[in-house]
Amino acid sequence: EKGGFDWFMRKEIYEQPKAVADTLLGRHDENGRLTLDEVRISEEELRRIDKIIIIACGTASYAGLVAKYAIEHWTRIPCEVELASEFRYRDPIVGPTTLVVAISQSGETADTLMAIRHAREQRARVLAVCNTNGATIPRESDAVIYTHAGPEISVASTKGFLTQIVACYLLGLYLAQVRGTKFGDEIASTMAELAAMPDAIASVLEDMDPVLKLAADFAEERVVLFLGRHVGYPVALEGALKLKELAYIHAEGFAAGELKHGPIALIEDGLPVFVVIPPRGRDMLHDKVLSNLQEVRARGARTVVLAEADDDEVLPYADVLVPLPKVSTLLQPLLATVPLQMFACELATLKGHDVDQPRNLAKSVTVE
Ligand code: BG6
Repeated sequence: EKGGFDWFMRKEIYEQPKAVADTLLGRHDENGRLTLDEVRISEEELRRIDKIIIIACGTASYAGLVAKYAIEHWTRIPCEVELASEFRYRDPIVGPTTLVVAISQSGETADTLMAIRHAREQRARVLAVCNTNGATIPRESDAVIYTHAGPEISVASTKGFLTQIVACYLLGLYLAQVRGTKFGDEIASTMAELAAMPDAIASVLEDMDPVLKLAADFAEERVVLFLGRHVGYPVALEGALKLKELAYIHAEGFAAGELKHGPIALIEDGLPVFVVIPPRGRDMLHDKVLSNLQEVRARGARTVVLAEADDDEVLPYADVLVPLPKVSTLLQPLLATVPLQMFACELATLKGHDVDQPRNLAKSVTVE
């Protein structure tokens, strides 16, 4: 049933191109307009939405953090992301013009369920992004976008995460279409970029040898840091979470721009630091993170750099380079996360851990 793999997790990592393709399937009508039939909230109502709050736990919350960048950029609706376990205890400002988006692979996570119940009591519209047909969270929501990742067995989420990002992007584009903040051809070009992602992810998966070797080199490490900026920041958080969950290593993800405000004090000789470098583009993001990379390298960090394959500027500062295909900034998390998943999976395997059932964790946590 593991299809020849040692772990469900590894199998599920390799299933990501298909999972993403399946999640994108059938999202157009005959005129090329984006259609999300499962979003059973009228266009009229969607035009009145003045705030979006994404709630989720764990890996799903990092998908939410990625989605915030795209949704705000495309729709110009303010979008917050909140951990489900914090949401209802802070008396959140929620009303009939708030769209609450609950992201949950299992659809059964108690913290997320309690949060959407609270949101509905305040008359918010609730949309679930879920991978499990008929689970409690989608049943208790006004609308649902299903991710079509197929069953995810490994406790640590992989294809669940990538497809959650894709589903949230579809939602963002759909809202932009309904509200007229982005026009047909712009939506079509982003959809075309998304449609190219399964192949891009597959090409990342073809070259996992450097990552496997890295896991062997880092097997004795006690601390690993991850840096990213913009959508690369949640990727850093996810890379760190995977190492905590699977390899039981103390790992932290930081926003690269925050480095100078504290975390740089941690850098010492030989400390492994993963850095997610944004694609080169019109903004300054790439250069800013490049200078963060230089700063940690100058202080002795051993750097693992995830960057566009032809990004020569990073080479002098990379102890190990993990090359990524060229994509736009917003889509890079769909690629950059994959080597980090594999790294954690391999490291935990080398340490003799049960990768699919890490200690103290459960696939869906049905208590608050
Ligand atoms: C945790 C799992 O307890 O629940 C994580 O160990 C997962 O892997 C989180 O990300 C949220 O789960 P779900 O099903 O709500 O996405």
